[in-house]
Amino acid sequence: MRGVFITFEGCDGSGKSTQIKRVSGALRDRGIDVLVTREPGGTPFGEIVRSVLLDPNGPERTGLAEMLMYSAARAEIVSQVIRPALIQGRVVLSERFYDSTTVYQGYAGGIHIPDIEAINRISTGDLAPDLTFVLDLNDPQVFHARMRPKKKDKIESRSDEYHERVRQGYRDLALRYPERIHVIDASLTEDEVFQAVMSVISGFMDKARER
Ligand code: TMP
Repeated sequence: MRGVFITFEGCDGSGKSTQIKRVSGALRDRGIDVLVTREPGGTPFGEIVRSVLLDPNGPERTGLAEMLMYSAARAEIVSQVIRPALIQGRVVLSERFYDSTTVYQGYAGGIHIPDIEAINRISTGDLAPDLTFVLDLNDPQVFHARMRPKKKDKIESRSDEYHERVRQGYRDLALRYPERIHVIDASLTEDEVFQAVMSVISGFMDKARER
């Protein structure tokens, strides 16, 4: 069987890393071979792109240049890491993937969304996630409380309006791709979010086994 590709999306501070840690642990406990990765990053090239894009003192750039940089890092991780792992039958959990580009650079950043979707297809060679979880933080106060303790990176420092467009973008994508994208209320407890995510993953894997 080809592996399973699962992505975790959501605004900054929504709990993606915590859930990925828990989900990968739970799947490994079931004897499943899991690879965890993140974007931008996950390859030597991608980590350099990440440091350039997120450096709070880094250069300003056009939205188009930013979109192409994220996409370049994605082309690298898909061909070098994600696709080989899926061919080996592994379960790949990625913190962010191309929905982040559609939402941050498109819905929030103003780049024409059909253009982004075309680049998404090129940079991934048409690889789409099997399942995507959007951890949705609907309360801006929780967002700010979670952000306050740490130094904000270049994207996190953008305006509240930008982050609200990010959130709306994710909700819109979830309506467009209801089979793939599952929106989970990130203000629930960590355990509740974990249970909700695992129940979708288990259902997906049971169905895949029946096929
Ligand atoms: P994070 O890994 O800490 O979530 O930081 C990644 C930041 O980069 C986050 O603010 C979202 C942003 N981002 C984009 O703007 N576009 C993209 O395509 C990706 C993958 C991330």
